[in-house]
Amino acid sequence: MSLVIRNGTLIDESGERAADVRIADGRVVEVGADVAGDDGDDVIDATECVVSPGFVDLHTHLREPGREEAETIETGSRAAALGGFTAVVAMPNTDPTQDSVEVVEFVRRQGERARLCDVRPSGSITIGRSGEQLTPFAELADVGVTLFTDDGNGVQDPQLMRRALEYASGLDVTLAQHCEVEALTAGAVMHEGECCSHLGLPGWPALAEELMVHRDIELVRLTGAPVHLLHLSTARSVELVRAAKADGLAVTAEATPHHISLTDELLASYQALYKVNPPLRTMADVDAVRGGLADGTIDAIATDHAPHTPESKEQPLDAAPPGMVGLETALGVAIASLDMSLSEIVGAMSWRPARIARIDDEHGRPIAAGEPANLTVFDPGHRWEVVPAELASKSHNTPFVGVPLEGRVRSTILRGELVVNDGRALR
Ligand code: DOR
Repeated sequence: MSLVIRNGTLIDESGERAADVRIADGRVVEVGADVAGDDGDDVIDATECVVSPGFVDLHTHLREPGREEAETIETGSRAAALGGFTAVVAMPNTDPTQDSVEVVEFVRRQGERARLCDVRPSGSITIGRSGEQLTPFAELADVGVTLFTDDGNGVQDPQLMRRALEYASGLDVTLAQHCEVEALTAGAVMHEGECCSHLGLPGWPALAEELMVHRDIELVRLTGAPVHLLHLSTARSVELVRAAKADGLAVTAEATPHHISLTDELLASYQALYKVNPPLRTMADVDAVRGGLADGTIDAIATDHAPHTPESKEQPLDAAPPGMVGLETALGVAIASLDMSLSEIVGAMSWRPARIARIDDEHGRPIAAGEPANLTVFDPGHRWEVVPAELASKSHNTPFVGVPLEGRVRSTILRGELVVNDGRALR
């Protein structure tokens, strides 16, 4: 039995065209006009819709093991599938940390059990993410870890980061940095600037990000090992990456949906829903990050999906944890916020992050006969608003309530199987 997708517009790295797609045994078997189907085939009518390679999220917090009250691998990967993602890189700030083969294998197995999207665990750069001792990169790479990060924190010690890059350069892996010089951000709850002075809240200066962006670019120049810069939020960070790329350095970067759409003024509500790390910045920063995505300086859109329980987010700003959920709204925010073609947006959500995560043998592939069938079908013109209670994520801390979104996922196909259809998860 096969699955046929009819009447859609296909977008992949080779361009855009109208064609039907037939899928069987986990692979695309035929692409063309009026593809014939058999009687028992499932058929998706993709009229007015885009059919693209499945999205790949470089930055998802799934919380399991350790904080299953906020999210589990099953609920998080269901949210991912509903957002059109066929693969997510699971961040390592779990409890215990993803710093050993045992924990990494546990996360992968839970993902396989849920069968909603491909869960690729990252490994932490340092044991317990404490910034002191490197994890066994080679051992973790042997069990399939391709991306290492201490996300939630940056590696503060430049000597340790240099050693990490030297170690990584002999392996087929990428180090990803959460850029924050912590000596400059102690106690901070929002962006340091005019708005924060008015509100009388402690500020997180743009410089705390930019110093580490600059340091890591120079470490790439020294070691030749690639660095991926996570959730860039400031105009100057974008400029630094642009210059590094012009110098031919192996630097890649991502931006989140919230940093291309929301500003620090939202903190005037004193609601912790808007507290995130790095913080929401000014409109000038938002414009610069959008510009970075549009000219390719920033390679990927990554969600930084960070579920937190209502109890934790209802605390005062200084006590509440930073973070926002984002998997189910990423596409809608991206299309509504960016002055980019659909093909460029899909590239920033699919084949470009697939390459950074080194999973482009299975994800972000061209839609052609013989390729793995990891696909997303979305309606780019669908306007909608998010209803927190309807999110599949176990936590509902979305900052996008009341924000008009554009573009919604209809179907997600993982290894040839429909896991989301008509906007509903089938598992
Ligand atoms: O806002 C954030 N939340 N930023 C991070 O770096 C970590 C994340 C989390 O784990 O909640």
